[in-house]
Amino acid sequence: MAPRGVGLGDPLPARASRLGGGDCALQVGLGDAYSLGVLGRLPGDPFGLVAFSLLAALLVRLALLGLVQSIAEACHRVAVVRLLSVAMLARRHASSLARVDANSCGSRPDPPLASPTVTRVLSCIQPTGEVHLGNYFGALRPWVEGQHEKDVFHGIVDLHALTVIEKPGVVGEATINLAAMLFAVGLDPEVATVFVQSHVREHSQLAWIMECTVSYGELSRMTQFKDKTSKRHGQFISAGLLTYPALQAADILLYDTDEVPVGDDQRQHVEITRDIAERFNFRFGDTFVIPAAVIPRAGARVMDLQDPTSKMSKSADTESGCVMMLDSPDEIVKKFKRAVTDSESEVRYDVAAKPGVSSLLDILAAATGRTPQEAAVGYEQYGRLKQDTGEAVVALLEPIQTRYRDLIADKGELARLLQIGAGRARSVASVTLQRAYDAIGLIRP
Ligand code: TYM
Repeated sequence: MAPRGVGLGDPLPARASRLGGGDCALQVGLGDAYSLGVLGRLPGDPFGLVAFSLLAALLVRLALLGLVQSIAEACHRVAVVRLLSVAMLARRHASSLARVDANSCGSRPDPPLASPTVTRVLSCIQPTGEVHLGNYFGALRPWVEGQHEKDVFHGIVDLHALTVIEKPGVVGEATINLAAMLFAVGLDPEVATVFVQSHVREHSQLAWIMECTVSYGELSRMTQFKDKTSKRHGQFISAGLLTYPALQAADILLYDTDEVPVGDDQRQHVEITRDIAERFNFRFGDTFVIPAAVIPRAGARVMDLQDPTSKMSKSADTESGCVMMLDSPDEIVKKFKRAVTDSESEVRYDVAAKPGVSSLLDILAAATGRTPQEAAVGYEQYGRLKQDTGEAVVALLEPIQTRYRDLIADKGELARLLQIGAGRARSVASVTLQRAYDAIGLIRP
């Protein structure tokens, strides 16, 4: 009978496999471990059979002297000590593994975790308002491109969106709309794990550990924190705006992420994630994979059409500078016609001297698969450049808009896909969170 009454709580094999799943040899059943407690010997076991025989003999003697109640109890105690030794070995072995290799062991939860030979990708987007062309070129399109070669996770980070106060229901609706957009741009639910951040509670749990690993100084020096707080003078500034990068670090590190495909504006957030991971690993032993930002060559920083020195953003002052994925063809063409350029007429790619024209060339290049210099060839007037860029964007967005309309018509199906995504995400995130807790040495419930 398994020694449930000895205070070990949940069964050893479940814990051992979550910790270090790759080595099937250590995933013994509890009954097996109990027998091993008296009889067996494990490789690298500090307590060999001889040591255990001596311990058993000692306990039997104590039983005979009446210091423990019976010989049966004495044997039981030997088995418990042995069981703890088996658990220690499994733990030590697990923490030496940088990553969990679940595929090497037959019976795993569905779906299997990625083998370390497959690159793990994670990136996320906030459900704050509509998706714009900057999001598409900087993030969504690169996400779609890698999905068949890499093991990709994409989160709709609704908890991040709470740094901006909204009426009840607004974030939820934006979340489902964004899910439709992620599938419309081409993320394939068969291969890509698309999930909602609040459905995977490990994000909030690891975020606290991250907050305790990063300093106040580091957080307060973040460019985005300084920008956003400077625009909110005299208004409510949530503490979440400061601790935001800790939650983002949790998003990334939970998935043993190798690559984080993001637009240029997120570079600093990935850098601080690397710093946090390295600090944690230094303090508590190898626990997290150190991720790298992957910034696309074309469209890494799409600029506002009305202010070509600022990035295109949902929170921009004027709507006409931001091209939304769901804008009608007329609206798109109009926004490009009104784009701010300069008082010259030469079409040349020169970001410092001609930011407006260069931004148009960036967009035209990203939409047509060329470099901005190639895209500039043949243009002698700004008018034609604006017209052609607008039309190229319309052609690119039209099929996406059609797919979006089909997908958003069936919210039940979207919810089902998100539920599947959350299950897959949780199966990875829970393993990493437990690894972090164990590395720190938090006791298990
Ligand atoms: P968010 O929601 O502001 O933007 C989502 C993605 O779009 C990119 N992007 C742009 N790329 C090019 N030009 C632009 N004008 C432009 N505007 C936005 C962003 O770089 C981003 O890749 N903090 C993140 C969300 C986040 C996250 C994460 C990202 C939370 N956890 C973990 C990666 C990994 C954000 O606010 O992105």
